[in-house]
Amino acid sequence: MSSGGVPSAAATSSSQCCGQHGSRGHSARRAPPLAIHEQEVGVADTLQLEPLTEEAFVANLQQRFKRDLIYTSAGDVLVSVNPYKKLALYSLDVVEAYRTKALLSHLPPHIFALADKAHWNLRERNEEQCVVVSGESGSGKTEAARIVLQYVTVAGSGPTGAQQDPSLAPIKQVRDRLLQAGPLLEAFGNAKTHKNDNSSRFGKYLDVEFDFKGDPVGGTFTSYLLEKSRVTRQLAGERNFHIFYQLLTGADIQLLKSLKLHRNIDNYAFLRPSRPLSMETIDDKRDFQVTKKALETLGFSAEDVVQIFKVVASVLKLGNIGFTPTSNIDGTEGCTVTNDYELFEVCGLLGTNPMELTSALTQRTILAGPVLDSPSTNPAPPPPPPCGSLRGVKSGGCSSSVAGTPPSFVPSSSMSSTGSRDVYEVCEMLQHSTLARLTLADERGSSSTAGELVVADLSASEATASRDILCRALYSRLFAWLVKQVNDATRVRKYGKRKVLGIMDIYGFEVFDQNNFEQFIINFCNEKLQQAVAECTLRLRQDEMLREGIEWTPVDFFNNTPVCELIEKNNHGILAVLDEESQRGGPGGDESFLARLCHTCGSSAYFETRNCAPHSAPTDLPCNTSVPPNCFRLRHYAGTVTYNVAGFVEKNNDTLPLDLSLAMFRCEHPLLKNLFPEGNPKRTTLKRAASAGTQFKISVGALMGNLQSKTPHFIRCIKPNELKQPRIFENALVQHQVRYLCLVQTIKVRKTSFAHSESYESFLHRYKMLSPHTWPCWRGSAVEGASYLLRDLPLSSPHFAFGRTKIFIRSERTVSELEEFRRQRLEDLAASVQKMWRGYRCRQRYLLMRQSQIVIASAWRSWREWQIGKTRLFKGKKNLFCLYRVAREEYRELKRRKQIEWAVQVIQTHYLQWRRRQYLQRLCVSLPSDSPVCREWPMAAKRLADANLMLRRMHHKWRCHKYRLKFDQTARNRMREKVTASIIFKDRKASYPRSVSHPFLGDYVRLRQNVQWKKICVETNDQYVVFADIINKITRSSGKFVPILFVLSTSSMLILDQRTLQIKYRVPATEIYRLSLSPYLDDVAIFHIKASCELPNLAHEAGCSDCSRAGGSSPLQGAEHATGCLFQSDLGKKKGDFVFHTGHVIEIVTKLFLVVQNAVGKPPEVNINTEFEANFGSQSVMFSFKCAGLPEVQPGQIKIMRKGSRMEVLV
Ligand SMILES: Nc1ncnc2c1ncn2[C@@H]1O[C@H](COP(=O)(O)OP(=O)(O)OP(=O)(O)O)[C@@H](O)[C@H]1O
Ligand SMILES: [Mg+2]
Repeated sequence: MSSGGVPSAAATSSSQCCGQHGSRGHSARRAPPLAIHEQEVGVADTLQLEPLTEEAFVANLQQRFKRDLIYTSAGDVLVSVNPYKKLALYSLDVVEAYRTKALLSHLPPHIFALADKAHWNLRERNEEQCVVVSGESGSGKTEAARIVLQYVTVAGSGPTGAQQDPSLAPIKQVRDRLLQAGPLLEAFGNAKTHKNDNSSRFGKYLDVEFDFKGDPVGGTFTSYLLEKSRVTRQLAGERNFHIFYQLLTGADIQLLKSLKLHRNIDNYAFLRPSRPLSMETIDDKRDFQVTKKALETLGFSAEDVVQIFKVVASVLKLGNIGFTPTSNIDGTEGCTVTNDYELFEVCGLLGTNPMELTSALTQRTILAGPVLDSPSTNPAPPPPPPCGSLRGVKSGGCSSSVAGTPPSFVPSSSMSSTGSRDVYEVCEMLQHSTLARLTLADERGSSSTAGELVVADLSASEATASRDILCRALYSRLFAWLVKQVNDATRVRKYGKRKVLGIMDIYGFEVFDQNNFEQFIINFCNEKLQQAVAECTLRLRQDEMLREGIEWTPVDFFNNTPVCELIEKNNHGILAVLDEESQRGGPGGDESFLARLCHTCGSSAYFETRNCAPHSAPTDLPCNTSVPPNCFRLRHYAGTVTYNVAGFVEKNNDTLPLDLSLAMFRCEHPLLKNLFPEGNPKRTTLKRAASAGTQFKISVGALMGNLQSKTPHFIRCIKPNELKQPRIFENALVQHQVRYLCLVQTIKVRKTSFAHSESYESFLHRYKMLSPHTWPCWRGSAVEGASYLLRDLPLSSPHFAFGRTKIFIRSERTVSELEEFRRQRLEDLAASVQKMWRGYRCRQRYLLMRQSQIVIASAWRSWREWQIGKTRLFKGKKNLFCLYRVAREEYRELKRRKQIEWAVQVIQTHYLQWRRRQYLQRLCVSLPSDSPVCREWPMAAKRLADANLMLRRMHHKWRCHKYRLKFDQTARNRMREKVTASIIFKDRKASYPRSVSHPFLGDYVRLRQNVQWKKICVETNDQYVVFADIINKITRSSGKFVPILFVLSTSSMLILDQRTLQIKYRVPATEIYRLSLSPYLDDVAIFHIKASCELPNLAHEAGCSDCSRAGGSSPLQGAEHATGCLFQSDLGKKKGDFVFHTGHVIEIVTKLFLVVQNAVGKPPEVNINTEFEANFGSQSVMFSFKCAGLPEVQPGQIKIMRKGSRMEVLV
């Protein structure tokens, strides 16, 4: 197809790799690796060109071109001159050379170097990239884009990587699909034009997505406005889209038969204009195989492929359908299909009814009625011309009001004068309800009902136009569907972070003798692209230096922004005017459009028509005032182009009559339902799509925005001659391109500026490992860090400039050097990390092995010793091993036991603690009552008995204490007496326990209330009676019991007559010094009175009548007589000790004890014994107690006998 066999070269596998040579099976000469180290021819990097003039630049290009050096560096852009022949520049060796060394070794300028830089930036700097290829038609953009794609898809794992490594199979598949998408889309979207044998008739932008390793994982194609008019009409000498020729030439006979096609191109009306073309450069037969392989690689099934070709064949066959004019009965013009067999075959291919297709092609359903208000702002739209002749009237029931404005319809007879509209437009106005009804009416076959919708016959020429519209729609929609399918096949199926590299290949700027809407759109796109490139390479760079305070010499350049604005400006731009005209509808739109353009844009220096010349044409652009009629002229950046407005409005509208949509949707062909969704009667929205121009404007705007968001890389393609021939270099043509591409200006800007600029922060972040000052972290300001860093590097200062926020690096070479330093340093760092890691890993391994060895050796030794020991033991011989084993076993056993003991201890300790805790917790909830006499107490485990006892005592003491706190004085005294009794008698006297429960009442005879006593006690000062009871006094001589009233006051002991209450004896408490008792149950007590005691004459003092009556007798006599009354006349005589018997012996002794203690200050002696002496005045008597062992002793059971100086008491 191409002069150099390049165009379809993408149909390659990666093994054949980059370049056209392997792609078509041409065995391109393998370039020796050194071939890329070119001999310096001319100046490869035109920054070095002196003098830098347009002529010198072109001469340099020519010089290099002659030596097949087509790539030249021009500042930030790569200039590529189309060689129109195969060159050995794209072999695997060259790929490898640029892939591995491009950043460092100073290889000559090459498209691989640019692609590698983009890919490297993407991989290393994690920035999204974009390669923008521009140039005029035939300059080699598509080729360049393909080479870039081929390079970047192999740059990650290498050109042969995917082949060798099975794990890279998915990458290979993605790579193949991306590469195969090119030939497929080119087959359907490229055509031979005067400018280029493989001219792209659509714009293409590919976003290739890469994973973090830089391997491709998928991609998305975006296509821009296919030049679909080419399907039905081509200029003489041009061809239709490649696929038609490929199908007819390359398909086998069966396929052709099934598609009802003949191999002869002349048989097809749409291909006839290209018949005389020489086919040297294009091999359709081979290309068809390439296309088929691409379809297969992209996952199209055999069935899909046949369906696609059926649509293509249908277009070809539809083109052959002719129409013969007929006259209707009512005098209107109609038509019939001339060649029915073609129609039948088309219907067979599309799966539809010939009648239906015939009526869709030869009739038009229209709405007859007054012209409804157009949304256009045009104040006076021209009346629409009649559209065909009316054949009948259908009722659409459209009287229902829509949006509050019911359209009024007129009878069919008046329609032609009032105008008619395409049913699509009408439905849009009436909303979809009308469409549904229309469809229903149509289905019912009603021909005329109420008079609003009419079916009009089309004239032969109208039917031909309708047929062409259908063919264009079929083809362009098939193309869009193919792009969608390709995108599905190349969609990313992997999760994870991805980076995008965009490759843009649009149709090149073109100027023909007749330039139509398509050329206008193509050139507008190129204009926008030129604006974007100039922005990046010229304006933004200069602005940046100005902003950063860097010195530079401003460079002027041609700014095409006014032209862009002239075309795209809202409301006043050419596209806006065209839209208005398109919306207004009706005939004469093109002329009206031109008139309005003249009115709106006439003032622009870049616009002229026959009627309006520019006010001021720029001096550097040629200005041609002889503009043909129906034309306007624009001064584009690449030249002046005259556009014929014919068809502008219609193409901009780009609407398909609904009859055709409906007919296509009803076809059985599976693709057509997808391609004509608006034909679906159930479709809910009939909103008209934006016009073609507006859509294009929006998508180009989005494309430019997309480019600006990425780091751009520019390839400027230059066409060396118009003849598409190798080795011809037309100076004027090249110079023209060099000029409008602003290449010299770009170099000038680059020369005075810097190759690379980066913020200090990011610069420091990237290169901080290159200086010990900044590695591993820098805490100062980024500028300071950057200057330290650069000081530590072997780079001279003129290579850098410090801006306000950015650092500027003069040349790419310095950037490369920095990268190389970084790479080396990273390698060193990686080596250190590896070293450390390996050391650590080896040590871990060593330790593990050593441990394992110990375990194995120990186990083996044990086993061996056991084995040997066993054998020897059985033989009765003890040897060292055996002993050693036994000792070891013993030791292990001991160790085990110790461990068990320890464990037991631990468990025991914890268990005990737990038991204690349990006990205490239980105890605190089950304490007995607070009464001191309560004897209950919770049981406790044996082990806790001591603690339990202790706690019991403590508790008892506590509750006693509590109990005592409640005592009054009397109770306290009683307690004191009881306690004293306990101290004296507990465990000493057998009768004591009996007394414990017995309260010490003291006054048993109620003496304190006795009136007589009250008188007596006042005299003796004994009013505080401690004890009073009738007890037995034991006579000293015979041991008889004599009842007396015994009174104990707080100061003395008194013995009174029980009847008369006469005091017989009164002994002061101070005179009692001892109290004697036996340990038995006898109730006998002896109170010892001091021997020197001089008893006071109490009888006298107390008025003792007995004593006064007995006056004159001797004391002894008196004593004997008056039972020992101490109040005898002889007071100096001593009476001696008293012996009593009483049931309250414990109480009396206790109280006497306390009384004496209180009186004397020290307690009397309490003598408890079986034998003791008593003083009976002049003689002392030995008391001796004998016990018969009775459990209870009544008073009568005690026998007391006096035997000389002994007194025996038998109990
Ligand atoms: N690097 C190259 N090596 C060999 N031949 C080339 C090279 N570049 C372009 N050509 C030749 O030039 C022809 C036109 O190239 P290409 O189709 O890429 O132009 P284009 O700029 O895309 O044009 P258009 O804008 O019309 O699509 C190719 O068919 C091929 O024969
Ligand atoms: Mg192209």
